[in-house]
Amino acid sequence: MTENRSSFTGKLGFVLAAAGSAVGLGNIWRFPYLAAKYGGGIFLLVYIILTVTFGFALMMAEIAIGRKTGLSAIGAFQKLNKKYSFIGYLAAIVPAIILPYYSVIGGWVVKYLYTFLIGQTSMAAQDAFFGSFISQTAEPIVWFMIFIGATALIVLCGVEKGVEKVSKIMMPVLVVLSLFIAIYSVCMPGAMAGVKYYFLPDFSKFSVTTVLAAMGQLFYSMSLAMGIMITYGSYMKKEVSLESSVTQIELFDTGIAICAGLMIIPAVFVFSGGTPEALGAGPSLMFVTLPKVFETMVGGTFIGVMFFLLVLFAALTSSISLMETVVSIVCDKFKLSRKLSCLVVFVFSVAVGLLSLLGYGIWDHIKILGMQFLDFFDFISNSVLMPIVAFLTSIFVGYVIKPQTIIEEAELYNKFRRKHLFSFVIKYLAPICIVLILVSSVLSAFGLLTI
Ligand code: PFF
Repeated sequence: MTENRSSFTGKLGFVLAAAGSAVGLGNIWRFPYLAAKYGGGIFLLVYIILTVTFGFALMMAEIAIGRKTGLSAIGAFQKLNKKYSFIGYLAAIVPAIILPYYSVIGGWVVKYLYTFLIGQTSMAAQDAFFGSFISQTAEPIVWFMIFIGATALIVLCGVEKGVEKVSKIMMPVLVVLSLFIAIYSVCMPGAMAGVKYYFLPDFSKFSVTTVLAAMGQLFYSMSLAMGIMITYGSYMKKEVSLESSVTQIELFDTGIAICAGLMIIPAVFVFSGGTPEALGAGPSLMFVTLPKVFETMVGGTFIGVMFFLLVLFAALTSSISLMETVVSIVCDKFKLSRKLSCLVVFVFSVAVGLLSLLGYGIWDHIKILGMQFLDFFDFISNSVLMPIVAFLTSIFVGYVIKPQTIIEEAELYNKFRRKHLFSFVIKYLAPICIVLILVSSVLSAFGLLTI
């Protein structure tokens, strides 16, 4: 990445590259299962409110910090104020935790792509298919290695530009296909109950957990609180409008997530009756429900191939940005060559990824805080570390460098219309809410609070 600094030629390049990192498994796999689990409409409402306040303010702050300093996370905080460089280090840990388990799920996507490619659509649509696949040992390891191997190869070759070019084609196709499948899903008989569940907020389902889950998802989905947007900001030209870029990235990211919910949640009602067990299925939701939709479609096998190919692509662009970040940190900090850093990160990710992978199989009796490895890594990064980094970032911007620094950066060539909203969120709303949420999430994980 470093050798590519300021490589985004214009706004479109920047927005698409940032959206390429943001749009990934988080949108298509994680968002729908969280929305289904945490009350449908109420989750969606909370998520959207958080996007236009927290998400907006934090993304503005991160991209502006990157652009102002021209550096990635660790260096950027250091340059602005030496005492606070630890925030950059903390942010840098997050992608290292996410990458291994992200690649395990990436491997599942490759397996599904293969299953549809060889025409075993009805097999993939069976209830037990997913569960029996992930609880094996050898097969999931093979698919995981293919995914992480591909990610490492691309990072090693540094073909980022190629990836960017391909994203310019693949991203629009992803949008069209998502819309198409969502419309099909909504039109199935019996789907309306799901659409209602998804769009009509039921305020009795509101709880602190809903906000917590929505906030964790927001950071994850927008690649926030992990230094990525700082790095991307450092490649951005000064005359490009920060505010409208952030709005576009958010629209892209949230639009795809909402669409993915529309593909999956109504289908849960059609095929499983919308029972709490079906809605609370968790990580398996996409893998169990969508194949059933494809099975009923004319040409479903082809659509299934297309769909999983695009999910794979979205996942790869994200995993590449995750690995790239970790590799560049290892390169810089340990003064290793790029090749060697790649190897170190690869070996580390395989080792940690195997924990997550086997945690669903032969090691499923091992639990940390009652969670399987994959869920535990997801929890530590999304519900603990990211809120901490987001909190520290908002304090740093709100009280150390002051919102004015960001506003000035945003107003170099353009107007910053929502600057008052930005200052308010970053100074007051974000720190207070994040602390409340963080405390309640940790307490509830330790069983000290039921929310
Ligand atoms: N935002 C990605 C997603 O929603 O799948 C996940 C992700 C990618 C997180 C890249 C962090 C990152 F650096």
